[in-house]
Order: sequence, then C-alpha cells, then structure tokens
Amino acid sequence: MAQQKIILTGDRPTGKLHIGHYVGSLRRRVELQNSGLFDRIFIFEADGQALTDNIENPEKVRQNVIEVALDYLACGIDPSKSTLFIQSQIPELCELTFYFMDLVSVARLQRNPTVKTEIQMRKFESNSIPVGFFTYPISQAADITAFKATTVPVGEDQEPMLEQAREIVRRFNYIYGDTLVEPNILLPENSACLRLPGTDGKAKMSKSLGNCIYLSDEADEVEKKVRSMYTDPNHLRVSDPGSLEGNTVFTYLDAFSRPEHFGRYLPDYPNLDELKAHYQRGGLGDMKVKKFLAAIMQEELEPIRERRKEFAKDIPAIYEILRKGCEVAREAAAQTLSEVRRAMKINYFEDEALISEQAKRFSGE
Ligand code: TRP
Repeated sequence: MAQQKIILTGDRPTGKLHIGHYVGSLRRRVELQNSGLFDRIFIFEADGQALTDNIENPEKVRQNVIEVALDYLACGIDPSKSTLFIQSQIPELCELTFYFMDLVSVARLQRNPTVKTEIQMRKFESNSIPVGFFTYPISQAADITAFKATTVPVGEDQEPMLEQAREIVRRFNYIYGDTLVEPNILLPENSACLRLPGTDGKAKMSKSLGNCIYLSDEADEVEKKVRSMYTDPNHLRVSDPGSLEGNTVFTYLDAFSRPEHFGRYLPDYPNLDELKAHYQRGGLGDMKVKKFLAAIMQEELEPIRERRKEFAKDIPAIYEILRKGCEVAREAAAQTLSEVRRAMKINYFEDEALISEQAKRFSGE
C-alpha cells in the first residue's frame, strides 16, 4: 500500500487566533483540506502543551478551547473533512511520550533552540524549569507520530520541533524496527506570511504586546488598528520618499493582497510593485495605502467574522464536533500505539507465541 498522506497540525489554546495565525497557517490548512490531496487531516488544540507554561492558569486554557474551535470553523475548517480534537483527551499521546523519553538526552533538549529561547524569555532559574515544559518537544513528537503524519503545516518557529520529531522517529525505527513515519514541515509560502509583524511593527504579533488583529475583531476595530499601524517614521509629508523596510502596512499587503484587489479598490495601480515604487519615489501618502489595506482585510475577514458568529449560536454543537473528533483521533492513535507496543515487545497479552514458548521452557520441555 502506498503511504497515506496525512496532515497533522494544531495550536495552543491560550488566546483567540489572530491574522498572524491566519496567514501563517490557517489559510493554508483550509486550502490543503479542500485540495483533496490528503487521505486524512487532523487539527488539534494542544491544551496539555499550553498547560506546560500556564501551570497556574487552567481556566485560561479551558476558556480558549472553545474560542480556538470557533476560529477554526470560521476559517473554513470543515469537520466532515478534518478531524478536530483536543490533545488531553487522547491518553495514547502520554503513553507514546513516555516511551519517547528514553530516546532523547537532556543535552539534546537543552540544545533545542525553541526551548532555549522560551526558557530565556520566561526567565526560569535554570534549576526551576518544570520537567513538563522542558520535555514538551518530546510530547509534540508524540502528537505528530501517533497519527503517522507526513505533513505538518506550521510556522518556521516550529522547525526545531519537527527536527526533534524526525530524530526520534529515526531512532525508534532503528532500535525497534520500521514502525513510525518521519514528518515533513510545510512552511508558509512567503516571508510576510512566515512571521507577520504586529501592528506596531514589532517582531511578532503577540497578545502580550497588544499588537494583534484578531479574526473575531469587529470591522471598526480592524479599521482602527489598520489606521494606527506603524509605517515609515521618516515619511512625514506625502511628497517625501517612503521606505518599505520594516513598513508594516506593506508587509501586510505582501501577505494579503492579490492582483484582483487593485482593480476593485485601487484601480490607479496595476499591481503591488507599482504601488511600492510610487511610495518609494514619494508622492503617495500612508493613509491611501492604509485605506487600501483595510478594504482588502475587511473583504477577507468579514466572512470569517460572520461565520464565527453563526457557529457561536450553538456552543453545545461545537463541543459535540470536538467530542466526535476526539473519538476518531483516539482510534487512530490507539492503532499506532498497538504497533509501537508490538515493536517494543511490551504486547505481552496478545503474543501467544511468547506465552507458549515460555510455558514450554519453564516446564522443562
Ligand atoms: N507547538 C505548537 C505551537 O505552539 C502547537 C503544537 C503542539 C503543534 N503539538 C503540535 C503543532 C504538533 C503542530 C504539530 O503553536
């Protein structure tokens, strides 16, 4: 049988999703889902992983599970095509993590660049890092391999996690025989989408910096946020030449604009390159560009916002979608775990040959 093509990806439910998530991954997931090129698609909420650094804030994680589910559905993730589930409800993931822990050294985890920077960011004392936080790359490898995912669409910050997962798979298969599948990362198509800056021009959109545009933001909020966006601080008069370097409005245009938008909202320009050229020459004001960006963003976000409101009218139905998704996901993970147990020789009760061979040996035959 040819190898199945399986997508797995997910998010930590620590807040509502914003347009950084959208251009970095969500939009792509929906396209992949609708491409028909994949045999199975799993999208999950990593609540257990979220708890590794929200130890004293379980209520935050609990409340955001539904927010993220609404964001997924609003963007067009279709539960009849994609399995939506919640990490903590799949105990097989803990089991697999436990076995994987034997395959990774402390030194290897310390070298993981994501863990390194996260440890610095949170300023843990080096001897007070929670073990669960320190080892979350191992648990993430379990998330991916339990479903035999071949394709993991995520942002580039997840690259070290994928590398770690691939290493674990290779080591597992080498020791116990071919069982698990090496996953590939699928990165966003352009650099604007790879790391969308916040509206203040700061490196990354993040809730703690208050520089996010959320998928659930109302139209007037989006408008306000776009108008106050960071541009080129030296572009004081319209006639001044403007710079594109670090100019958030143009980065967002790279991420959101398509050729047809020009005909619709800015017919004086044939495409983005011409708009950029005019800005750099001077004579193009920030407000005009911002109005254009706002129009494009509203066009893209309006249907998402409306669908979100529709789904939010029936919250019990959303939980039902998640519950069913967990059942389906659990079945898939259980299948992999039974192969893992067999490979690791811990499948005692299903191994009749083992029992009869030992019975003979002990009876002295
Ligand atoms: N670490 C990811 C994040 O912070 C979430 C995540 C957990 C994930 N397990 C995963 C993503 C497995 C892809 C595959 O967003």
